Amino acid sequence: LGAYYFTAKQDTAGKIAFDRALAIPPLAEAGSGASGARVFQLGIEAGETRFKDGPATRTWGVNGAYLGPTIRVRRGDLVEFAVRNDLDRETSLHWHGMHLPAVMDGGPHQTVPVGGTWRPRWTVDQPAATLWYHPHVHGSTADHTYRGLTGLLIVDDEVTDALNLPSEYGIDDIPMIVQDRAFDGDNQFEQRVPLGGSLGVIGDEILVNGTIGPHFDVTTRLVRLRLLNGSNARLYNFGFSDGRRFSLVATDGGLLAEPWETDRLYLSPGERAEIVVAFEPGERVELRSYPSEHGGTLGRLEGFDDLLDICQFRAAGTLSDTAELPATLGAAPDLAGQAVAQERSFALASDQINGQAMAMDRIDFGVREGTVEVWEVTNDNGYLHNFHVHDVRFQVLSVDGGTPEPPLRGWKDTVMLVPGKRYRLAMRFSDHTDPNVPYMYHCHLLQHEDNGMMGQFVVL
Ligand code: C2O
Ligand code: CU
Repeated sequence: LGAYYFTAKQDTAGKIAFDRALAIPPLAEAGSGASGARVFQLGIEAGETRFKDGPATRTWGVNGAYLGPTIRVRRGDLVEFAVRNDLDRETSLHWHGMHLPAVMDGGPHQTVPVGGTWRPRWTVDQPAATLWYHPHVHGSTADHTYRGLTGLLIVDDEVTDALNLPSEYGIDDIPMIVQDRAFDGDNQFEQRVPLGGSLGVIGDEILVNGTIGPHFDVTTRLVRLRLLNGSNARLYNFGFSDGRRFSLVATDGGLLAEPWETDRLYLSPGERAEIVVAFEPGERVELRSYPSEHGGTLGRLEGFDDLLDICQFRAAGTLSDTAELPATLGAAPDLAGQAVAQERSFALASDQINGQAMAMDRIDFGVREGTVEVWEVTNDNGYLHNFHVHDVRFQVLSVDGGTPEPPLRGWKDTVMLVPGKRYRLAMRFSDHTDPNVPYMYHCHLLQHEDNGMMGQFVVL
């Protein structure tokens, strides 16, 4: 059993200088294409990145050496991507959280060959939300993502525009791709697998948008942070060093019905959250990850007892006061009480789902377009898993029979599975059918996904 435990806890609190400014990923520029499409050019390439003093690190990126630009689209846009693969092996880009035709999904059946260009195209038809993109090559997703292929994909719409939330990109609307990485003595990424490898790669340094120990200069009273857990396996329990409260305004699939005030927020790999934080002039405060409070369940995994400093916020002497925190936000998920066409259950354990490992040529089931399904998902062993479904947003109806906590009351596409608890998820599948091309469902701890904790379904 000892092999499953870290030997020492990480505690970086108070030990980081925060002497680098937080990098803000550039916004991707769109050209115009046929039928008014907005066309984004994305080149996947290898390069070198200076994360720290000493040698540069060999990394991968999109339109650059590490990470990729933030892609910003509006509901109703016809979008097209030219995804060029300049690596020495095939890879893919998957649009995590997007409702789209399965052939455009960028999953393991839509890989881009070396030197090739893939041109997915679809009309954005979903509410404003913070999504992201990353590779999805079966067996190599963890490796390709760890090397740096990750970016944000923001969807805007009129509902969110009308709310007067902080919304100036890089000023008071801040992307935060949070990743852990380990470095070897030559500053190269190291794929360290503690805990006997049970979770995959876990690093001991935290990067935000590729910056280690960053600070962000706050100039407005309210700041919206778009948080992505972009780690392969690490769980974060976000909070601030002075215990201040903040407001969760959106989860994976978009706005909550109303802001939820808290001082802690869990995000498992692949999950996103938009939070609004209030600052006073001249303040300094650190965003941290706190030890897990899951006691006898996740508490077993001592790797999650880390106390980590992530980013320092430094407020200017005077702050402008433009955005407000609205009392109500979006419409609450509405799938509870709807007629359920089909129930299914999924047990995750030992790199398998329902006792089966992913096979590229096996489709597990078909769902009917336009119908509501309820999926009951359980984590049947003691390790952290989560559950992600392509193409849809889902509503968490219940956790162990009870009403879910507020962070799970909004739309989700990825949900953390606390060992032993039962999660009932309701989802409605709609249009974009191609009965021959599958979508994926899987654990988003990327090593688990690569090892086979994934399955395929089609929409009929
Ligand atoms: Cu974020 Cu199937 O992926
Ligand atoms: Cu898992």
